[in-house]
Amino acid sequence: MKIAIHDGNGWNKRWIQYVKDNNIPYILVDCYSNDIISILKNNYVTHLMWHFSHNLPTDIFMARNILFSAQQSGIKVYPDINSSWHFDDKVSQKYLLECIEAPLVPSHVFYDENKALEWAKIVDYPKVAKLRRGAGSYNVKLLKNNKEANKYIKEMFRIGIKPSPGYLADVKTKMKVAGSISGVVKRLKKAPKFFKMVYQSKKGFPKEKGYVYFQDFIPDNTCDYRIIVVNSKVYGMKRMVREGDFRASGAGLFDYSEIDENIINIARNMANKLNMLSVAFDFVIDNNNEPLIVEISYGFGTEGSSKVKLYWNEHNEKTLGTIDAPYEVITGFLTNDFL
Ligand SMILES: Nc1ncnc2c1ncn2[C@@H]1O[C@H](COP(=O)(O)OP(=O)(O)O)[C@@H](O)[C@H]1O
Ligand SMILES: [Mg+2]
Repeated sequence: MKIAIHDGNGWNKRWIQYVKDNNIPYILVDCYSNDIISILKNNYVTHLMWHFSHNLPTDIFMARNILFSAQQSGIKVYPDINSSWHFDDKVSQKYLLECIEAPLVPSHVFYDENKALEWAKIVDYPKVAKLRRGAGSYNVKLLKNNKEANKYIKEMFRIGIKPSPGYLADVKTKMKVAGSISGVVKRLKKAPKFFKMVYQSKKGFPKEKGYVYFQDFIPDNTCDYRIIVVNSKVYGMKRMVREGDFRASGAGLFDYSEIDENIINIARNMANKLNMLSVAFDFVIDNNNEPLIVEISYGFGTEGSSKVKLYWNEHNEKTLGTIDAPYEVITGFLTNDFL
């Protein structure tokens, strides 16, 4: 066995530490290199790991080309095709979740302006419009009536909408969540990283155009539910919506009270059907108290979720303790049958 790990940030760093600590044979690779395939072959690599990011346009552009090609040649890869072909693409997720009969929020996609405009005439409002890509609620908006929907549809088919956030996106919420002076200082320290991400994203991601994606608006949610299934362990937290808003993602307002077992079970069940070693679900709850999925991702932020003090283990037993998601990924990847 020899693992190749992409020499990058995020979970990659944690995995590199893990293989060093456990004397597992590894090489660090630059997956952007022109020679990456021959490097993998010449080093007899059996496993390839790359925590590629939705924030990096280059990763979204080409990471899966490398991973899936390596998978085809018999190398075990993380994330694999099942886990990541639909990553950062809510429209792909709609088809996939419909296929496995997941409880998806009723979702509607159009690739023709006139068909979309016809549909927009006859539906109830509000509706939620989403770009297929994005995080932190930046590309999710509420359309209150037919007039707003028409404007949105025309923009998406004629001009397109940039998927990158603005430099000052969400500044009010961020400062509010920061609270104290020390919180604000901590926040400000993160600012250069955020600005760099926005800069790269503005430069690299083209406008989204030529389709529209809507979901029915599920009203009266004061939070969404971020439920994570990783290496057969399940845990989650509530994320509170911003004041005067319906959107939770990206606000950083976490609530760690215990999650209803019903949502935990749905998430486990769906992760099994999806055949994903790691998956984060975002749920909202409808008026009949049914949890409905709004999106899924193989990779996810761990800042809030690593503090959840309760999880359901592989035997679905409630267990006290926190989960280190990247650790679960590498141990699960090296020991179980997920390809
Ligand atoms: N159909 C919906 N009805 C009600 N609220 C929604 C719906 N879809 C998303 N939301 C809210 O908006 C937030 C952002 O939506 P999401 O699809 O998760 O996008 P992002 O990729 O930006 O996280 C969610 O955290 C949730 O609070
Ligand atoms: Mg989300």
